[in-house]
Amino acid sequence: MTDTVNSIYLEAPGKIAMVRTPMPQKAADQALIRVESVGICGSDIGAYRGANPLVTYPRIIGHEVVGTLIEGGSGLPADISVGDRVIVDPYIYCGHCYPCSIGRTNCCENLKVIGVHVDGGMRELFAHPAHLLHKVPTGLTASQIPLAEPLTIALHALHRTQTKAGEHVAIIGAGAIGLLAALAALTYGAHPILIDIVEARLASARAKGVQHTIDASKEDVRARLREITNGRMAEVVIEASGSNKAIRDSLDYVSFAGRIAFTGWPKQETPLPTNLITLKEIDIRGSRTSAGEFREALQLLSSGTVVADDVISKVIAFDEIPQAVRELSDSPERHLKINAIL
Ligand SMILES: NC(=O)c1ccc[n+]([C@@H]2O[C@H](COP(=O)([O-])OP(=O)(O)OC[C@H]3O[C@@H](n4cnc5c(N)ncnc54)[C@H](O)[C@@H]3O)[C@@H](O)[C@H]2O)c1
Ligand SMILES: [Zn+2]
Ligand SMILES: [Zn+2]
Repeated sequence: MTDTVNSIYLEAPGKIAMVRTPMPQKAADQALIRVESVGICGSDIGAYRGANPLVTYPRIIGHEVVGTLIEGGSGLPADISVGDRVIVDPYIYCGHCYPCSIGRTNCCENLKVIGVHVDGGMRELFAHPAHLLHKVPTGLTASQIPLAEPLTIALHALHRTQTKAGEHVAIIGAGAIGLLAALAALTYGAHPILIDIVEARLASARAKGVQHTIDASKEDVRARLREITNGRMAEVVIEASGSNKAIRDSLDYVSFAGRIAFTGWPKQETPLPTNLITLKEIDIRGSRTSAGEFREALQLLSSGTVVADDVISKVIAFDEIPQAVRELSDSPERHLKINAIL
């Protein structure tokens, strides 16, 4: 073993390259993994653009990380042994603040996200808190498994809204998160309605079994929703675009006594007509990252209930990541999801 490893490194916003960085030093409560595959996420693009104020530089990016366990550490789950394939739960919580004390570790007051607040997993070897590893079931290729992480985000929104079979779920944004939420909603027996302003994304979702789609750039979304839901409007709305307009419109799209999850990260504040929230008695819930959803996500993927390749549009080599990040930053709608293998 050499004392440096290849890493995807952001020296500053707009400056990305594969460089040699020091070999990670593992603490007693950390595990060391040899990284096999990583997913490129919208937040990696945000870090590249300098659009996320939480990111500090220089930074090794990447939080959708899969690898083989080389060395364990204290807290390692009992079902994981050296040589096993694992996925990283990338949200490092403090364990002693109020939300942590009630199991809401995803909104820990001191949350550290790898690739954002601390160095991430786009590197050959990676050390991570041992208790935050999950064993990966068989039947999936390394390039497919990183998708479990964004799937946990989608599942969390369905859980926050307590989506049930038979309900209509209007999902705004047919990016990776929105499409995964729609595919997961189907597995719950719910009826997803995907809304986007890019027809190609909606067409591709229809081809994957999402029956109802609405192009908000051309169609009257409220009228279409009324028609699809027989006048009720959607019992559940998941906002997964981050658009201020979409956030505002979600209050119109939801039914009386309906539930909304805000998953998208808007760049600015959104003024909301709170009289509508009272009138319809809407439950609005924030939905941030995930807590306890990895097992379900891995199970949905390994059983083929959610088909990974429906969402992954391209698989590249590790050293192609810098170019892919530049491309995704220039034309974000070109690929739904790119994963890389090492
Ligand atoms: N809460 C969390 O923990 C969490 C985690 C991951 C991502 N996110 C956020 O979720 C959102 C979706 O992530 P993604 O990776 O799928 O992003 P993405 O950019 O791939 O997808 C967003 C989609 O929204 C569409 N869109 C934009 N404006 C719209 C509008 N006015 N009406 C309808 N559709 C519109 C875009 O065309 C695009 O297809 C982003 O805001 C992202 O920051 C949140
Ligand atoms: Zn991600
Ligand atoms: Zn905490």
